[in-house]
Order: sequence, then C-alpha cells, then structure tokens
Amino acid sequence: MHIQWIHLSDFRNFRTLSYSPAAALNVVTGPNAQGKTNLLEALALLLVGRSFRAGKPVDLPRWGTEGATLAGQLCRGDVTREMRRRVGRRQDGGWAVLGEGCAWARAIPFSWQDVGVVAGGPQARRNFLDGFAGKIFPAHLPGLARYRKLLARRNHLLQSGLDQAALQARIEPWDQQMASEGLDVLDRRRRAVAELAAEVARLYPALAGSGAVRLEYESSLDAGISAERFVEELRARRQDEVRRGQTLVGPHRDDVLIEMDGRDMRSFGSRGQQRLMALALRLAEVGPVERAVGSQPVLLLDDALSELDPEVQGNVLRHVEGSGQVFLTTAERRLPARQSAWWVVRGGHVRDLRPQLGQGAA
Ligand SMILES: Nc1ncnc2c1ncn2[C@@H]1O[C@H](COP(=O)(O)OP(=O)(O)O)[C@@H](O)[C@H]1O
Ligand SMILES: [Mg+2]
Repeated sequence: MHIQWIHLSDFRNFRTLSYSPAAALNVVTGPNAQGKTNLLEALALLLVGRSFRAGKPVDLPRWGTEGATLAGQLCRGDVTREMRRRVGRRQDGGWAVLGEGCAWARAIPFSWQDVGVVAGGPQARRNFLDGFAGKIFPAHLPGLARYRKLLARRNHLLQSGLDQAALQARIEPWDQQMASEGLDVLDRRRRAVAELAAEVARLYPALAGSGAVRLEYESSLDAGISAERFVEELRARRQDEVRRGQTLVGPHRDDVLIEMDGRDMRSFGSRGQQRLMALALRLAEVGPVERAVGSQPVLLLDDALSELDPEVQGNVLRHVEGSGQVFLTTAERRLPARQSAWWVVRGGHVRDLRPQLGQGAA
C-alpha cells in the first residue's frame, strides 16, 4: 500500500501542506528543526491514528491553534481510500485524534530512540514486540489491554492488606482470568518472536556484512503450559507477591534475548551494533506484516542512516529501495540512492528537490 497524497492544516509547524510523495523511496532532507520528523509523524497519524513520538495529542496542533486536520488518500492495488483525521478537543475537554482508521493501513516507524529496544530495559523490548504482534495479530492489543487491566486489579488486591484467607478467596477468580488472558498474550508473543527471528537472522548480516543473530522469547513460563499450571505458579509465589505488592508471574515480566555471534547484544553489543540491530528489527517487521495484511506497510525511517558506516548505509539504502513506499529523513544532501524521489523540508514547506525520478545521486 502507499499514500498518494496528504493534506495538513495546522499540524506542528505546517500551516498548510499538500504533498504527493512517490510510491517508492522518498528521501526527505533539509536542515535541522525544519519539520522532517513532523512530516513523518503526520504520515503515521494519517495511517494509523497515532504518533511514534512520545507526547500527547495536545502537542500536535500548530501552536496557538485549536486543532489540526489531516486528510489523505491511501492506495492498495486498485483500491483507494480517502482518510480524514482531526486532532482536537472531545466534548469532555480532553484532546484526541479523531477519525476512522483503515484496516489495511500499517506504518513501521524507526527513530534512534529505538536503540532502546536493544540497549534499554525489558519494557522497551516488550513494547516493541507487542507493537509488532499487534500489526500481525489484530487480537493482540485488545487482549493485552484486558490482561493489563486484570493485572492492575490483582496488584491492587495484593496491596489491600487482607488476611490470607480473605485474600485467597478474592484472588483466585482473578488468577483464572489472568492465566487465560496471559496465555493468549504469551502465545502471540512467541509466534511474533519466531517470525522476527527468521527475518532478522537474514537481515542483520545483509546490512552489517556479518553476524549470526538469534532472538528468543524469555519467560519464566514454559512454552505450551496449561492455564492450571499458570495458576499454580501464581499460587506458589503468593507470599512473595503479598510482600512486594505485585504480581510476579506472567508475560508482563518477560523479555526478548537478542544474541549475535553468541553474545548478548543487550549488554555486550557496541553502540554501533545496537543501533544497527534496532534498525534491523524494525525492517524485520516488514515481511511478516506484509504477509499478514496482504500489502506492504509504509516505512517511516527518521534519520536512520546517521552514524552508520558508508558501506552499511549503502546496504540499508539498497534494502529499502525495494521495500515499497519508504520515507527516509536525512541531513545529507547526497546519498547513493538511485531510485528515489528527493524532497527538501524547510520552514514547514516541502519542495521537490529533484523532480526527475531515477536521476541518481552520488
Ligand atoms: N505544535 C507545534 N507547532 C508549531 N511548531 C512546532 C510544534 N511542534 C514542534 N514544532 C517545531 O517544529 C520544529 C521541529 O521540527 P522537526 O520535524 O522535529 O525538525 P527536523 O527537521 O529536525 O526533523 C521545531 O522548530 C519546533 O519548534
Ligand atoms: Mg528530526
């Protein structure tokens, strides 16, 4: 799928913008603080209704305005779909992104904060994995939300100071539900890791030149355990749980092992390896998402080439040149990208830098 056009009003530093990108690689260049990342953010918002940046909807309208609107047209095969979204106040006064989504629209964003997926704590890896699982299994995020709600209620109960017998009576029904939702979350995560593992084992060495990569889902709960067993594990930790006031068994405690040439990249990777691994993990999402949805996702790569060796940059470019519609921001004015449209963002305007496709750079 690809975006045919997008129209913005009062979004971030864009007063109004009409932009018709190429269906292939779009290199988005320009000096700092001109709106490159804002443009990618707008594309994500149009596609999936949320930003990849931390922050709230209230940050999105241009300063001093009461709301932003985004309109655009998506295309897959001969089907087109017009989209409209508005960032504004709901009736209760809270800010929200309003508008209907599109079942086959998918965006895969990447920014250097994603290095946290490799170098950061388990939470960052769980979030990454859940985001990916949500793209290929529509049931994943609603199921995860239910699990989290149960977890919060169960933790509340553990902190309530009830005596042992009363706690037992109150908590057992929650345990059953936790186990049932938790096993579904675990199952989808394990399948998601298996998909990613196969892709990234191929991708990382293709980008880096070498490196045997292994991903593995790390859980205190064995693969394929029953709900009864899950409940037993909860029961076995009950004393600890009461003492610490939190649930100590379940997928909210899990992690993903990322190993290269037998070394744990989470702690022993060099910064450069961790960065490239983070990018490879994002690019590894593309194939499985395409197979699950039936069309290619749109790649939003924010400054993905910075701090990579020139050779690796070339490998990344060659890879994304064949990955459907891609947006790649960069401060560089020259890149060895042959088949690409070039755009320059300056002061909230987007200009076609080199109108002829295939003109080549370098
Ligand atoms: N809600 C907003 N309204 C107006 N300007 C904004 C808003 N949010 C951010 N900006 C401005 O957008 C610019 C940053 O754009 P960004 O896309 O991050 O730049 P870059 O081209 O470096 O990626 C900054 O000048 C910032 O002040
Ligand atoms: Mg930026």
